[in-house]
Amino acid sequence: MAHKIINNEQFEFWNKGIGQKWVDEDQSMNERLSILTEELFLKSNIKKDDKVLDIGCGGGQTSFEASKLVGSNGYVVGADISKILLELAERKYSQIKNLEFKYCDVQNYEFKKNEFNKIISRFGVMFFENPFAAFKNIYNSLKYKGFLNFVCWTNVMENEFFTAATNIIIRHLNKDFPAITRSPGPLAFSDEKYINEILLYSGFKNINVEKVYSLITTNDSPEKDGELLLSIGLGGRLLAEENLSDEKLLLIKDEIINMCIERQKDGKISYNACLNYVSASK
Ligand SMILES: C[S@@+](CC[C@H](N)C(=O)[O-])C[C@H]1O[C@@H](n2cnc3c(N)ncnc32)[C@H](O)[C@@H]1O
Repeated sequence: MAHKIINNEQFEFWNKGIGQKWVDEDQSMNERLSILTEELFLKSNIKKDDKVLDIGCGGGQTSFEASKLVGSNGYVVGADISKILLELAERKYSQIKNLEFKYCDVQNYEFKKNEFNKIISRFGVMFFENPFAAFKNIYNSLKYKGFLNFVCWTNVMENEFFTAATNIIIRHLNKDFPAITRSPGPLAFSDEKYINEILLYSGFKNINVEKVYSLITTNDSPEKDGELLLSIGLGGRLLAEENLSDEKLLLIKDEIINMCIERQKDGKISYNACLNYVSASK
């Protein structure tokens, strides 16, 4: 039976506006997320011959990194609901023999049972309309004794990548800080108890959620950094819902750029971050 995308709202989201912004900002985001990507790989312990699934692989950088570790007898599948992000991944990595990209909705795609011995994700698992069903599906694709490792954001207030620009934007819009809920979105997994509940329900064992303080750092100019904060994350989502005049947008942008200038030290702009590194086994 043909695969049917069921997360329609996320399909729209990641194949148009926000998805396109992730395509445009791929290099910048990979740079910003480099410290925590290293940490994710340390914890994932991917080895030669491993068969790896990368969930919500986006532009494919983490899938590519994994493909370098598994050698020619292993392989990596990067799965994503966004055609435009997968097109970017194909443009960058189509020559890599042990790496394949699959366009699908991970919540209900029928992966081969017990295929992968490592499943990883960098911020790609918080967007399922039914995370319980999605993780059960992911569990079924994992081999006995295989491991799942992913990284997600913790409490929004500990993540300046979200708060720094959002605080400026809500002041201009005269709005409260957006409520953080369990609805699909970057912060849906900020509650450790909820992660445990989903993984236990799905059959996972040896569940461990480790909270780690880190830094999101960029060499981008304050102007470039400001642009990115206006298009990705909570700030981008808030602005996408508004129909602001060019004057108001310019005002917000100027203030955000000034905030970036204030944060810049030795050519780097940094944001405090707090992450949950989650691991579990079958
Ligand atoms: C925050 S982005 C992270 C992308 C990538 N992992 C990275 O770190 O650059 C979230 C990714 O999850 C993907 N995604 C969201 N819902 C999905 C679903 N139901 N099935 C597969 N991928 C999904 C999006 O298309 C997007 O590429």
